[in-house]
Amino acid sequence: MTGRIPEETIQQIKQSLDITDVIGEYVQLKKQGRNFFGLCPFHQENSPSFSVSPDKQIYHCFGCGAGGNIFSFLTEVENISFQEAVSKLAERAGVTVEVPSFGGDGKKQPAVSEEKEQMLKAHELLAKFYHHLLMNTAEGQEALDYLEERGFSASDLETFQIGWSLPNWEFTTRFLEKRGFPLEWMEKAGLIIRKEDSGSYFDRFRGRIMFPLYDEKGSVVAFSGRSLHDEKPKYLNSPETPIFNKSRLLYNLHQARPAIRKQHRAILFEGFADVIAAARAGVETGIATMGTSLTEAHIQQIKRLANEVIICYDGDLAGMNAAFRASELLISSGCEVRIASVPDRMDPDDYIRRHGGEKFLHHVIETARTQMAFKMEYYKQGKNLQDEGQKLQYIEEVVTEIAKLKKAVERDYYLRQIAEQFSLSLEALKQQEKQVFFKERKKQHQHAPAPQATSVYQAPNKLYPAFQTAERRLIAYMLKSDDVAYKVKELLGGNTFNLDEHQAIFTYLLGFYEGGHEPDASAFITFLPNDTLRRLVSDIEMMMISKVASDEEIHDCIQQIFKHRKVLEIKVKKQQQISAEKAKDYLAAAKIAKEIMELKKELH
Ligand code: GTP
Ligand code: MN
Repeated sequence: MTGRIPEETIQQIKQSLDITDVIGEYVQLKKQGRNFFGLCPFHQENSPSFSVSPDKQIYHCFGCGAGGNIFSFLTEVENISFQEAVSKLAERAGVTVEVPSFGGDGKKQPAVSEEKEQMLKAHELLAKFYHHLLMNTAEGQEALDYLEERGFSASDLETFQIGWSLPNWEFTTRFLEKRGFPLEWMEKAGLIIRKEDSGSYFDRFRGRIMFPLYDEKGSVVAFSGRSLHDEKPKYLNSPETPIFNKSRLLYNLHQARPAIRKQHRAILFEGFADVIAAARAGVETGIATMGTSLTEAHIQQIKRLANEVIICYDGDLAGMNAAFRASELLISSGCEVRIASVPDRMDPDDYIRRHGGEKFLHHVIETARTQMAFKMEYYKQGKNLQDEGQKLQYIEEVVTEIAKLKKAVERDYYLRQIAEQFSLSLEALKQQEKQVFFKERKKQHQHAPAPQATSVYQAPNKLYPAFQTAERRLIAYMLKSDDVAYKVKELLGGNTFNLDEHQAIFTYLLGFYEGGHEPDASAFITFLPNDTLRRLVSDIEMMMISKVASDEEIHDCIQQIFKHRKVLEIKVKKQQQISAEKAKDYLAAAKIAKEIMELKKELH
């Protein structure tokens, strides 16, 4: 991932700079014990949970999970590429790097690797070409008619560079070949597909309406192709490639950025067709995920620009569930959230087509509700409120949510609504709310570790299940010693860590050591391919007491991992047993019961 910058250079830069100096320019840091603390630059907070370790040369935020080394810090905080961060830090360290200049002053060295450069160029050219095919050719006419019929204006087609790929197996392949793009790279970029047997290539997108997907800088990095008739899938996306990360990309962010920054507000949609329709209605701040649910990476990007998000998902149950989840995530990372509801189970695009943009702005966007008001609707789903039992359940659910609200005025406001709606006494509701509140608080206190008087900035000691703690501990030890890493590999045999992320870190770490690196958490972080893993490593490094591991402790941890596997196995088998019993297959049920017994025996 370091592109063409030699490893030694990276090391040299790291050795000449101190992480506290670099971060100190962005964050006011205060020393507490061995570490420094300050307010996290990546999320809104009032008490410092952002910590920097000069010993380990890494940072980590216990609030939002951001973490990494000086390079990832600069990349994140300045929103620049890794190469750009290296060149900035190199300058500061007085180290010369063979990095391209970014002003484009004639030096023809690419900013990213040659491979990525070619991938980006191919996408850019193809986007233009597909657009031309749609707008100006007879082959594109049917698609153009369809889009016009759906309400896409000429300026939509222009703004979003919508195009058409010919229903031909080799058109794109030949187009790329003729222009000298290495086909291997084009395959890696997801534009063409290699045939197993003959080794020749064919086009991925055939006879589809092409929506270019831009990264935050405005380069086309992928496509989503919609079928014109009823071919499946409805939307065909580029696969994950070196330039396209689905769980990071937000559709239209490059165009919406200035407006989002100015209004401090973004409107989040489920589908990009909604973004386009809303833009027609005058919404300049619309963005969408690419058919995946909202991730931490999405949220971080939004939060750099805005503190408020209006979620405008589809009006059906699936859309409401997704909106519920997204709102929880956004709120817990410090965003203000409102939720706009589209009536009659329509999606925003349908609504705009049917009722027009004006109505969409006034009746959907401007009437977006707080999360609490949304929850009050949400919990009604699937309940018959005429039924006494279901009504009480509903009230309990809502009161539990109300108890979580921080402001007394807000709690009062919603309790009054409930009181009114169900003709209940406000006093009784208030009492119930208090009970819930104290019950929850007690629960939390039982889980929280005893407060430590020594440090003001105590990182919250999260409680993980035993197997997870064991896996984290092993990773902490392996980060300190390659010997331990090889030993763990041996002990695991062919088995893996239970958590995929842990397994990924383990695999990368072995690769790191096999590549001749010495143990060095900060260097390892640069070696990792994505944010999620980088954060996790910095989290583990900061949280774990790293001493030297005894053999006994390593064995214990491995045992925990194996034990968890068995527990999972038992769970699956219990499920099978229930199904077998339901199917009245008692013989099978008895057999499974015996297997469960044996697994349980092994556990002890
Ligand atoms: P139209 O049917 O063209 O109006 O699209 P829509 O925006 O209503 O799409 P829908 O609500 O079905 O899906 C929302 C988003 O999910 C889309 O923008 C896509 O990103 C994604 N999506 C939908 N269908 C598919 C599919 O078949 N494959 C993939 N990979 N993604 C899909
Ligand atoms: Mn739709």
